[in-house]
Amino acid sequence: MQEDIDLSSITIEYMKKEDIDEVLKIEHASFSTPWSREMFFCELTDHPFSYLYVAKDEKKKILGYICYWLVFDEMNILNLAVDERYRQSGIGSSLLRFVLEDGADKGAQNVILEVRCSNIAALELYEKFGFRQVAVRKNYYDNPDEDALMMALEDISAYRRKERCLKVG
Ligand SMILES: CC(C)(COP(=O)(O)OP(=O)(O)OC[C@H]1O[C@@H](n2cnc3c(N)ncnc32)[C@H](O)[C@@H]1OP(=O)(O)O)[C@@H](O)C(=O)NCCC(=O)NCCS
Repeated sequence: MQEDIDLSSITIEYMKKEDIDEVLKIEHASFSTPWSREMFFCELTDHPFSYLYVAKDEKKKILGYICYWLVFDEMNILNLAVDERYRQSGIGSSLLRFVLEDGADKGAQNVILEVRCSNIAALELYEKFGFRQVAVRKNYYDNPDEDALMMALEDISAYRRKERCLKVG
């Protein structure tokens, strides 16, 4: 069942090891080949280039999360999911907006990601932020077998300028 959410009450913070249980529930409900506990743990502890954030409500309940790598000046968004009860309320956009700013602050120039070609919700979200399809990876996914669309936001500074204009205008 869809639940109402007040976006202004949401905070975005670093994911912690204690968050993994809650994150895994959303992960398993969201993907047919979910990340394991070990994968989240490894991103949190072993990869200094990996950034993980959670969106929480005022009671500190986790509503969604995002993970990206920053390698030199390239961001790679590896994971993004929102608790299905709170989708289409702007939480995915808030997480994406947050990491684009965060990555740009850390020196990112461009952003890439992969998405299942049937994942209309994610494709529309990324297109809204200016991502464009740059390649197809044949049979990249399994369960079910499916191509990945590789999408890129090639000039993060242009995205930032546009966001600032939207705020002023
Ligand atoms: C993709 C996902 C993260 C979007 O999160 P969300 O919080 O629902 O997204 P938002 O509410 O910020 O929506 C932003 C835009 O995305 C698009 N969108 C979101 N859900 C959509 C849907 N079901 N159908 C079509 N477009 C959709 C719309 O363009 C929307 O803008 P609008 O509200 O002005 O129409 C969420 O659907 C999800 O967790 N899906 C399962 C996991 C997943 O597929 N992750 C992406 C892996 S690449």
